[in-house]
Amino acid sequence: MLQDNRIWVGTSAGGPVHLLPAMANRHGLIAGATGTGKTVSLKVLAESFSDLGVPVFLSDIKSDLSGMVKPGVRSDSLDKRLRGCGADPEAFAYKAYPTVFWDVYAEQGHPIRATVEQMGPLLLSRMLSLNETQSGVMNILFRVARAEGYALRDLQDLKAMLVHIGENAKEYTLTYGNVSSASVGAIQRAVAILEDQGGDTFFGEPALDIGDWLRVAQNEDGTEQGVINILSADRLFNNPTMYSTFLLWMLTSLYDRLPERGDAKKPLIVFFFDEAHLLFNNCSRALMEKIEQVVRLIRSKGVGVYFITQNPADIPMTILGQLGNRIQHALRAYTPLDQKAVKVAAQTFRTNPAFDTEEAITTLKTGEALVSFLDEHGAPGIVERATILPPQSFMGAIAAEEREQCIAESPLYGVYEEAVDSEGAFEKLSAQKKAQEAAQAQTTQAPRFLLVNGVLRQVVPVEQAREFVQYNGNLWPIL
Ligand SMILES: Nc1ncnc2c1ncn2[C@@H]1O[C@H](COP(=O)(O)OP(=O)(O)OP(=O)(O)O)[C@@H](O)[C@H]1O
Ligand SMILES: [Mg+2]
Repeated sequence: MLQDNRIWVGTSAGGPVHLLPAMANRHGLIAGATGTGKTVSLKVLAESFSDLGVPVFLSDIKSDLSGMVKPGVRSDSLDKRLRGCGADPEAFAYKAYPTVFWDVYAEQGHPIRATVEQMGPLLLSRMLSLNETQSGVMNILFRVARAEGYALRDLQDLKAMLVHIGENAKEYTLTYGNVSSASVGAIQRAVAILEDQGGDTFFGEPALDIGDWLRVAQNEDGTEQGVINILSADRLFNNPTMYSTFLLWMLTSLYDRLPERGDAKKPLIVFFFDEAHLLFNNCSRALMEKIEQVVRLIRSKGVGVYFITQNPADIPMTILGQLGNRIQHALRAYTPLDQKAVKVAAQTFRTNPAFDTEEAITTLKTGEALVSFLDEHGAPGIVERATILPPQSFMGAIAAEEREQCIAESPLYGVYEEAVDSEGAFEKLSAQKKAQEAAQAQTTQAPRFLLVNGVLRQVVPVEQAREFVQYNGNLWPIL
């Protein structure tokens, strides 16, 4: 909820706690054990960004974010929470938010597609869980495709290109480095698995125009609200490597496409990545460096990134250090490992003399959190123990029909629904193969002798020809 153009997240003993929109691009973290209120805190932030006119992107793994399309429902317990936060329950506005659903599998939202080329060899290798040697071959494949003008749009193109470099491995090995048939075979098997997991829906065209995530909706009173883009990720999440690589692709493509912006009053877009620890599993060093770099530099392009995870220790230190705005819900401290995690989490905060941070983390109630946001100078504020406000939209999932209606009424309906299959490497290579076969067929079908005016004449190579005769629609050189 907004208060004097600042995001009012909750209230501590010292009064309301605010996140400053100008500091929202300094990234953030929402952590806490299961059921402690992370998703609700995320919603409170997302709604406020929307009210500021800032579009947001959320990955929804349990479908419990879909409720943002309709107003929340007043209840005694929410009234009590509001009063506890110093808000007037009578004046609290339960409302719906402009929401657009997306789905990589094109089932629960507009399809999101990217071309193989856009994904690039680094991320694609990760998506296919390739080892270093195989990733090297993938790199070569991309270089050959670029050099020889083969467009890599969908998985068919990728497969055709794999056959092509496999068949011409000797030649390419000389120019680009080792292309072993074992590596090509391994990549082909990995592509087949990706296809079975529905990767063929994701790769293709029309590719997503990231501008479609930066939309704002016009209210009747002339004010603007940022559109809430929800990625329906319950199916995608069943394949954690694809889920996490997809999110990384989004981040890197935004980074590549957006211009530098410098400091601004509010961010251009804010991303919330649920189950964020998955992003960093099985990352090659090259990819890890890329993620760190993107996270570090993307803020000057006006993009805020908020990671949601159970345990802050799941996030690599180099990234954790860049997350300026923090909401820490309760952590359990049953095992020595848990206790260590609590310590680590506590150490990331500037202590408040009023309470012991470590002890507070283990005793927070649901919907209560330790909160520290950056001040106007970019310095982390002293940690506060705050009760988080309730969201204004509906808490929980919506019915399938409600979702369908929302998709059908979306201004983007029809833009991405139909896949388009334009000429790529597959089409070009098949056409070349066909032409080659036809030429070969013609040479093998060439007659050795022709009967010309009752005399048998020998068919010879063109340069030895005495004359040419017409036969079977072709001109033949003869002696
Ligand atoms: N700020 C809040 N206002 C009102 N209710 C809340 C608040 N925070 C949490 N709750 C209640 O607690 C429940 C659990 O919260 P939530 O779903 O956010 O937990 P979570 O940390 O995301 O859990 P999980 O890790 O399982 O996803 C909510 O469904 C809601 O009923
Ligand atoms: Mg949750």
